[in-house]
Amino acid sequence: MHGNECTARAHANIALIKYWGKRDQERNIPAVGSISMTLDALHTTTTLRFDESLSQDRLILNEEEATANQLNRVTSFLDLVRDRADLSIRAHIRSVNNFPTGAGLASSASGFAALTLAATGAAGLDLNREELSALARRGSGSAARSIFGGFVEMFPEKQIAAADSKEEQTDAFAVQLYDESYWDIRLLVLILSEEEKTYSSREGMTISADTSPYYNAWMETSPQDLAEMRDALQIRNFEKTVELSEYSCLKMHALTMSSRPGILYWQPGTLSVIHAVRDLRSQGIPAYFTIDAGPQVKVLCLPEQQEQIITALRDIPDVLEIIPAQPGPDAKILEDAP
Ligand code: DP6
Repeated sequence: MHGNECTARAHANIALIKYWGKRDQERNIPAVGSISMTLDALHTTTTLRFDESLSQDRLILNEEEATANQLNRVTSFLDLVRDRADLSIRAHIRSVNNFPTGAGLASSASGFAALTLAATGAAGLDLNREELSALARRGSGSAARSIFGGFVEMFPEKQIAAADSKEEQTDAFAVQLYDESYWDIRLLVLILSEEEKTYSSREGMTISADTSPYYNAWMETSPQDLAEMRDALQIRNFEKTVELSEYSCLKMHALTMSSRPGILYWQPGTLSVIHAVRDLRSQGIPAYFTIDAGPQVKVLCLPEQQEQIITALRDIPDVLEIIPAQPGPDAKILEDAP
């Protein structure tokens, strides 16, 4: 950190119990809780500098000037930080993902978590981890979870201890359940060729909440899914953890498909991998899948079977690349950054 400049790094995360739907659009409060694993292999590094000479924020994403939409979303987020710090200065932001761009991997979680740390650091705001998580949520719901490493739970409403206030208040933020050394399970990120652009998770959630006849069932069954996942993680029960995670994924996709218009995130390659994973299972190899708002499939497995599973999946047509990941660390400020 140097004066009004700060560099931070945050890792991506994948939800084992999915978030889909909002209670409050304006403050981006999720309608349901979620549980995720932070990934060591995928991260975003962001440097932010408040600069008196700028008349508007400037965002460079993966060495390219950001689009107007990307910039607007970041400016709205930075306005929250500026309000809190009583600042009006515009910022120069340079953000780099270490994972392939355009591969359809969500970068909003690691992106907004890194931006939260870099912006509050550069603004001189002293926030605790819960406040950082609640702030990151305003950028993207899943970013609230990327503030923490290991296994993380997002709460739609929970008591928060604000650093600057003694009053009791509630907010939506994530907490760490277990750090990254707790359990070595693996998540293989399969990069598939992506043909068409589809609905963003933000758009998809709104459509599902407004139109799916299954939305109430999704909301009602969420507490039980979360409770079962907490229990499975507590005793490191692999079968239960991954079975529940595949279940939550399919339930979320059933919700998107039952919306109007029907939202189908899968591509032919997605289905090929789903069936290949289930074939492996029928041969006695424990492998389970999870999928977010896009065609990419992530495969959960134990370290012992990782190589065997990669060998079985890498020759499927449409599989371009496989990135193995394991539980990763907290988001942090990089003190030695240039
Ligand atoms: C399918 O966090 O991207 O990945 O809060 O609108 O930015 P916004 O949504 P986002 O949604 C993530 C949806 C998901 C499931 C999950 O990560 O829990």
